[in-house]
Amino acid sequence: MTKVYALVCLLGVMSLTQTFKVTPHPPTWPSAFSVGFHEDWNISVIPSSDGAWYYDYNIRRARFDHLQGQSNYFCQGRGLTLKDNHSDCHLIFATDMYVHYAREKQCCRACGPAEGCTVLKPAWLTGAKYIGKQTISGMVCHGWEKQGAQAADRWYQTEDGTPCQYWEMYRIPTHPLHTMTFNISTYKVGPVQRSVFDVPDYCSITCPNPWKPHGEY
Ligand SMILES: *[C@@H]1O[C@H](CO)[C@@H](O)[C@H](O)[C@H]1NC(C)=O
Ligand SMILES: *[C@@H]1O[C@H](CO)[C@@H](O)[C@H](O)[C@H]1NC(C)=O
Ligand SMILES: *[C@@H]1O[C@H](CO)[C@@H](O)[C@H](O)[C@H]1NC(C)=O
Repeated sequence: MTKVYALVCLLGVMSLTQTFKVTPHPPTWPSAFSVGFHEDWNISVIPSSDGAWYYDYNIRRARFDHLQGQSNYFCQGRGLTLKDNHSDCHLIFATDMYVHYAREKQCCRACGPAEGCTVLKPAWLTGAKYIGKQTISGMVCHGWEKQGAQAADRWYQTEDGTPCQYWEMYRIPTHPLHTMTFNISTYKVGPVQRSVFDVPDYCSITCPNPWKPHGEY
């Protein structure tokens, strides 16, 4: 009797493990990391470019860099007077979010918590749906999809948590697709040098065209 019971328990545990393997739980980001990426758009007129993420949730800071050639929709159209709208642009998330054209030393406050411009929580994928495995940059990556009001996000990472790719999928107006492919040789987990998140003092102005949610891209 005890033996049978033990066997049933064992089978139960095994089937639980199997179920878990088929639908892994959404991952949580490390509380601090940095990684470089290459971004591509499924819109022929937008060229691809490079960038980097710096993230430290312990101090509620992040900086997302979209480098030369960028067509980032937070960077563009803020009304700054620029020599090149596509030059290096740093999105600095402090309490508010700032758009900083680093080479031109032009900067403004684009939005804040009222507009949903806050540092992503490490557990932002909570409730995301597992969408299976995919080979990205030669690595086996697991994907999760999170549905938003107008867009869906997809996050792919390896079994050991190394980021592979991030997707933004829009249903409105058509079906453009934006992907960021992470360069794993630049992935570092752990605190980021604090000065990376410094907001230059010339960022104190509000953008002539502040960013608004559900605006035009
Ligand atoms: C930058 O973009 C703005 C808004 O689209 C435009 O008015 C301006 O002429 C652009 N500047 C350059 C140098 O292309
Ligand atoms: C780009 O979007 C179209 C749908 O608009 C889709 O058929 C195509 O597969 C997408 N390309 C990539 C590289 O994802
Ligand atoms: C990844 O980053 C390394 C180090 O910065 C660089 O040498 C390499 O060219 C990058 N790889 C890709 C595919 O961008």
